[in-house]
Amino acid sequence: MDRLWLDALELVGVDGAGATRAGGKLLRPALCLMAAGAIGATDLKRYVRLAASFESLHIASLAHDDVLDRALLRRGAASLSGLWDNHAAVLGGDYLVARAVEMLAEYDSCTVIAKAIRSVRRMAEGELFFFNRDRDAITHEDCIMLARQKTASLFAEACSAPSYVVDEAYREPLFEFGDQLGIAFQLVDDILDVTQPTEKLGKPACGDVLEGKRTIPIMYLRDALTGADRERLDAMENAEITDADRAWIIEQAHETGAQERAEALTRDFADRARAALTQLPESPYRDAMDGIIDFVLVRGA
Ligand code: IPE
Ligand code: IPE
Ligand code: MG
Ligand code: MG
Repeated sequence: MDRLWLDALELVGVDGAGATRAGGKLLRPALCLMAAGAIGATDLKRYVRLAASFESLHIASLAHDDVLDRALLRRGAASLSGLWDNHAAVLGGDYLVARAVEMLAEYDSCTVIAKAIRSVRRMAEGELFFFNRDRDAITHEDCIMLARQKTASLFAEACSAPSYVVDEAYREPLFEFGDQLGIAFQLVDDILDVTQPTEKLGKPACGDVLEGKRTIPIMYLRDALTGADRERLDAMENAEITDADRAWIIEQAHETGAQERAEALTRDFADRARAALTQLPESPYRDAMDGIIDFVLVRGA
């Protein structure tokens, strides 16, 4: 890793004591490297900068997301906006997008840059679709669309980027794998929001409820709740959520079957991700990508 990349990590990862922590699961760069190996790249070191550019785009999106979601906690420590302010978080995110493009440019391919940056456009488009939208008009399909735009788009580009350098023949299955896995990943994230405590998540529990978001598990929960219970859930938007409220949400998500219903939907996307993988040649890298599907399904945070 070069000095600039370390600078970038420091920019997003300096905790209160001033120590550097990259943190995070590094899923997108890991998938990018696995995908390169799965389609025949022999020297994976050549793809480290490509992989790092996707983590850079991801961390940038987190910095901006925490401004939008007013989240003070990220990766178990203060978010950029929490540690400093929104100003620093917006600029830090912009800096990381620019660094990502510079790293992508090292591959001398306009396509590599254009495809990666397409995910940034799609993320913004997804969020803008919900801007000022009447919440009660939001459908389950809209929620899946948002998961695809804001999360799966980056997974799909991280997975398919090596195909532009190694072998374009595998572009479609890699993109499809990333798309389906990314949606499953966001659905799990949305489920964890209403089923896990803050200590386990490393980010605020029930943050989606507080923000008045309509995620799939929240939609299913609202579908199942009636009368005073649904009013109680709705009243939590922008309110002070107590520990008792959080415990109540976790209990209701379980007891109404909303959690189980969302988990079943998640498995459908995971199955489609697995099916896409069968179009790649057999290899330990393909097996590792298959293992990531299981990791996504069982992850606790
Ligand atoms: C968080 O992504 C944002 C979502 C897409 C839900 P990750 O859960 O991959 O975040 P890190 O990188 O591991 O912190
Ligand atoms: C994913 O949405 C955010 C991005 C893709 C940047 P969330 O708002 O659910 O992500 P978390 O829960 O804050 O990590
Ligand atoms: Mg968020
Ligand atoms: Mg979330």
